Amino acid sequence: MLADHEAALSVMQRIEELARCSEEADRLTRRYGSLAMRRVNALVATWMRGAGMSVWQDHIGNLRGRYAGSVGATRTLLLGSHLDTVRDAGKYDGPLGVLLALQAIEHMQCASQRLPFAVELLAFADEEGLRFGSTYLGSKVVAGTFDSQILTLTDADGMTLHDAVVAFGGDPSALAADRRAADDLLGYCELHVEQGPVLEAEGLPVGVVVAIAGQSRIAVHFKGTAGHAGTVPMTLRQDAVCAAAEFVLAVEQLGRQTEGLVATVGQMVVDPGASNVIPGHVHLSLDVRHQQDDVREDACRQLQQIAAELCTERGIAFEWQLLQMSSSVACDQQLTEELAQAVVAQGYPVRKLVSGAGHDAVALADLTRIAMLFVRCKAGISHHPAESVTTEDVGVALAILHTFLQQLALTQAGL
Ligand code: GLV
Ligand code: MN
Ligand code: MN
Repeated sequence: MLADHEAALSVMQRIEELARCSEEADRLTRRYGSLAMRRVNALVATWMRGAGMSVWQDHIGNLRGRYAGSVGATRTLLLGSHLDTVRDAGKYDGPLGVLLALQAIEHMQCASQRLPFAVELLAFADEEGLRFGSTYLGSKVVAGTFDSQILTLTDADGMTLHDAVVAFGGDPSALAADRRAADDLLGYCELHVEQGPVLEAEGLPVGVVVAIAGQSRIAVHFKGTAGHAGTVPMTLRQDAVCAAAEFVLAVEQLGRQTEGLVATVGQMVVDPGASNVIPGHVHLSLDVRHQQDDVREDACRQLQQIAAELCTERGIAFEWQLLQMSSSVACDQQLTEELAQAVVAQGYPVRKLVSGAGHDAVALADLTRIAMLFVRCKAGISHHPAESVTTEDVGVALAILHTFLQQLALTQAGL
């Protein structure tokens, strides 16, 4: 097994450095376009340049670096992951994939090695959707599937995505031009922390992803009537929180009774939000996922129906806004097989996994063939500050990525 401990340590140190770039003093939160995002982009851009890459930030704020291939090389391999985080995040979700790829490129530069294809490293500006509720903002721009209608979405402070793009240094009218042409692409490969417990349970450092579950993200707005908590009788209220509470339990129930379905209400904003005021409005987020698109779509329809019925009973109105929907995506068989061969070459069995978490690879699948490698995650905990991977496993992932690149170089050279 080739496990370069120094290189793995360097990845871990850089992960710590990025984790210090947060919007919040006591926890890691890095939303799209924040000052913390600017700081990580500046740091990673410096490291990319140090690894011999030409670097630019596109209009949505993705950091893009290119490591040229050998003379005459005409094809390009994309590597990448994201630099934004959820609120109170772990350090590895996203940055691990970016920094592993960067380290592999740095290794080639130190060895003065050029591959018979160029490598482009994509550090995406928004995969989590924390600020605007719609995910894959960065990777959709690269894939050319960004829907400019969502530029009107607003964040919690009422700022539009359009204005956030401008504030982050981009031109919203130029986003379409940042689409990556597909004709020279060999594919996209993403390395990512598993975010689940399977690899740890089976004692394996890595796994090969074969498919990524689809997801729907919906904003639900319950519109009741605010009033005085001391004077309006219980029978005469249109309490938006009570309607929302009933809905949340219905979401949980449907998730429990439908095999393979996961459904989550992760955000809830109560307005006006005072202890002595009957809640007039509730805004909540709904996240629904399943490996089969028809089951997910049916669950969304059922939940919308449930919301409609309970609101009618309570005499209140509601709005249902589909913020984003992505179908299940299969990884490319051939590229995945090449990744699997690199796993075997490093002495590990090929454990195939389906990802319940979403990844930038989902958006990139509209552009080119995709493959993904998962790295073991301590106790399967993710989207949480306790998220953790070991330096040893990072070393294994690095060795596999290195082998994958070398194998691809032989294939491309026709050897
Ligand atoms: C991204 O991390 C997601 O699956 O929500
Ligand atoms: Mn995540
Ligand atoms: Mn992620």
